[in-house]
Amino acid sequence: MHARDFEFALAASAAVPLPQPDRKADDCDPAFRKDVLDGLSQSRKVIPARWFYDLEGSRLFEQITGLADYYPTRVETALLRQCASLVAARLGTAAMIVEFGSGSSIKTRMLLDAMPQATYVPVEICGAFLAESCATLARDYPEVAIVPVEANFMDPVQLPPSRDGGPVLGFFPGSTIGNLLPSAAVDLLRTMRVSLGAGSNLLIGMDAVKSTDRLLRAYDDDEGITARFNLNLLHRINRELQGTIPVGAFRHRAVWNAGWTRIEMHLEAMDAVSFEVAGEPFRLDEGETIHTENCHKYTPQQMRLLLQAGGWSETRHWTDGNGDYALILAEAVPDECGP
Ligand code: AVJ
Repeated sequence: MHARDFEFALAASAAVPLPQPDRKADDCDPAFRKDVLDGLSQSRKVIPARWFYDLEGSRLFEQITGLADYYPTRVETALLRQCASLVAARLGTAAMIVEFGSGSSIKTRMLLDAMPQATYVPVEICGAFLAESCATLARDYPEVAIVPVEANFMDPVQLPPSRDGGPVLGFFPGSTIGNLLPSAAVDLLRTMRVSLGAGSNLLIGMDAVKSTDRLLRAYDDDEGITARFNLNLLHRINRELQGTIPVGAFRHRAVWNAGWTRIEMHLEAMDAVSFEVAGEPFRLDEGETIHTENCHKYTPQQMRLLLQAGGWSETRHWTDGNGDYALILAEAVPDECGP
C-alpha cells in the first residue's frame, strides 16, 4: 500500500488493524529484486540499506539498540525525555506527529507521554512490524489517534485531513538520516518540508563525529548482533529471490571512511564465491565486498548546514555531556525567505 493510496477512514478508530499484504513472506518484491540485481552487477557491489528491514532484520536492529556499545539509542532516549515537555509547550498536547521509519515506535512514547491527545502518523516500510507496533501503542495510549502509513519514508506522505491546520511535528529519530549520502539527505529533508507543510517543525536525531575506536565498536559488537543484522540481508536474498549465496563464506566488516565522516558496513567474501540470484549468475573474488550501509556522522556545523540545505532552520539543539549525539528541533523555512 502506498502512502498516497492510504484509506484515511481508518483514522476514525484508535486501534487500526492493518490489512495484511497479499504477498507471502518468500514472494518477490520487484523493487528488492531490481536493487539486488543492479547492485550486484556493478564493479563495486552495493545493496541499499533499506533492505535490511524485513521482520527478522527489524528484530535484529531492535537488539542492536540494546547493546552496551551502541550508544545512539540510549543517549537519544535520555535527550527525548529532556525535550518532550518543551516540544509539547511549543506545539500543544494535540499536535500531529509524523514519524519517518517508525519501527517499534518505542521512542515515540516519550513524545506521547507529553502529548497524550496527539494524532500519530507512523510511516514504516515493514507492514508486519508496523501493525504489531500500532496494536501495542493503541493499548497504552487510548486517546491517541493512530494513522499508520505503510510506505517508504523517502516518498512524499499525504497527511490525513484531521490535521485541520493544527501544529505538525515531523519526527525522524535514530540518526536514520545518516544512512543517506548528503545529497539524498537534502532531498529527503526538502520532501519532508513539502509533506509537513508551512509552519511545521521537525525533531531529528543526528549522530556526532567521535573517536574511530568507539564508532567501530558501535558497528562491530562483541556479541555479533550487528554481524547477524548485516548477514541477514544475504539470507533474505536467498529466501525471497531464489538466491544460492553461501552465507557462511561472508563476514561482516565495519570501516571508518574519514573523508565522508561515515561508518561503512560491508559483507566481505572470505573466498572466491559464485552464486545465483533470481537465476542470474554472480561472482566475488576473495576479499571483495558488498557495500550494504553508510552511517554518516556530523559535527554540529555539519548538522546545521544539512538542515539549512533541506529548508529547515535549527531552533533548539540538545546534546549529552560528551557531545556524542544530538537531538535537534527545526522549523520549516518559509519559501519567500531571502532576497
Ligand atoms: C538505523 C541507520 C540509525 O546507522 O546506526 C545500526 C543502523 N546499522 N547498526 C545506524 C545500524 C548497524 C542505524 N540506523
